Amino acid sequence: MDALARPIIPPAPYVHPEDLSTPRLVVATLSNTLGNWSKNAFDIPWGRRNVLGVDSLLVNDPAAIRQVMQTNMTAYGRPLAAVRPVRPLAGAGVLLSEGAEWKRQRKMLAPAFTPGTVESLIPHFHAAAGNLAERRAGQPRANLSDAFHHATLEAVLRSLFSLPPGPEQTELAALVRDYVATAGRPNFLDGFAPREESFAFAGGARRRFRKRWFAAVDRIVAARRAGTAGADHVDLLDRLLAVRDAETGAPLSDAEVRDQCATMLFAGFETTSRLLFWATYLLSLDGAEQTRLRQEVRAFPPERLATLEDQHHWPRLRNVLLEAMRLYPPVPIIMRQVVTPDVLCGESLGKGCLVWISPWVLHRHTAFWDSPTAFMPDRFAGKPTPWISEPGYMPFGGGPRICIGAAFALAEASIILATVLERFELSMESDRPVMPVGGVTTAPDHEPWFRVERVG
Ligand code: HEM
Repeated sequence: MDALARPIIPPAPYVHPEDLSTPRLVVATLSNTLGNWSKNAFDIPWGRRNVLGVDSLLVNDPAAIRQVMQTNMTAYGRPLAAVRPVRPLAGAGVLLSEGAEWKRQRKMLAPAFTPGTVESLIPHFHAAAGNLAERRAGQPRANLSDAFHHATLEAVLRSLFSLPPGPEQTELAALVRDYVATAGRPNFLDGFAPREESFAFAGGARRRFRKRWFAAVDRIVAARRAGTAGADHVDLLDRLLAVRDAETGAPLSDAEVRDQCATMLFAGFETTSRLLFWATYLLSLDGAEQTRLRQEVRAFPPERLATLEDQHHWPRLRNVLLEAMRLYPPVPIIMRQVVTPDVLCGESLGKGCLVWISPWVLHRHTAFWDSPTAFMPDRFAGKPTPWISEPGYMPFGGGPRICIGAAFALAEASIILATVLERFELSMESDRPVMPVGGVTTAPDHEPWFRVERVG
């Protein structure tokens, strides 16, 4: 930061001075789950509230979070309201599995996410980044929210299946994008369903999507198994086909391979796309930081990045990505529901109680951060893995279920952002603030136009 320059305070929803009454809380939550918090939430270690008969606990205390996500994690499951919309996308893959089945799957998937494997995927990240930059060339303005959606889907589809742009990639991309924007949005019935299969009469669109989606992924896996997809590929599908159960030695079944692929696609594309959007938005507000990053990237141009270790050439870029995830966590809320009664923060929690662990709140909490609302990437200097070392920082979740794709996401986002910054200067066309809106991911309230000027 320049000696006398003040850090920018990027847009965020209004923080209410007092806790909202139940009717106002319901209305505020329906319009934006990030806009219903009172100042208190950002100061306290925990808070309990009953809203329309639903017992809820907001947990900010690191020891209590560890209890939910690690030491007594079997007492807490994913709430049905969160599982129902995701099931058609992720099937029985690792994201939605529980207990011993989750443990088995996570262990089997681990070799697909080692640093060595992620490193082997770097050419796919470069390809997606290069295509994004190419599409921007000669265009003075861009909807970067949309552009990053395309680029991150391409990166994941290439990493999973070595799928280059073409009709198959277009079909899969359109299917997922359409689903998350329509039938895949959590709805009113999800909140009241007593079982996963309840209200089947209203689930036609989700069933149709699931059928088409799984059929499309099945076709790709079948072509690889049949050897008709060519041998010239390095991707996650290879790794999944090579997986063996530690005890039985059995490979994954077709359905298991498909469900894991579908899970990675869902978990990996929109989260990384949001990270890239908010990082570029912040850099458009902070031109001086953008210039510094461009200098850093030009000193080690993206095409030279061949290993994960090479990311050390871009320390500022990494700090900006980490700070973007602090201010606008791609996953703003991690929900758990009590399945076995437990005592948490000294409170007795019965079955069904909702536990809210909110990266949005934690990342702006006064106990963990100086100037919590300010954009100050340097706060992460010298902290290589703050999502593990910093108690108030959990963009990737925590405990044994921490995001399996964190290294993948950071390498991919670094390469895409560096490629864009090396070639283009970004600024906003309009002064209208872009407000974050909470859903499954932290979305912008509108998709702004960026001015994109080629730099020499
Ligand atoms: C910036 C990008 C990303 C963010 C912020 C992010 C965030 C998260 C979070 C918060 C969780 C924990 C959810 C919970 O405990 O309820 C999670 C889990 C997961 N993520 Fe990510 N993620 C990102 C990218 C990726 C990528 C690129 C992949 C795969 C290619 C991926 C695959 C997964 C999977 C499979 C899980 C479930 C792990 C388990 O339950 O054992 N994520 N992610």
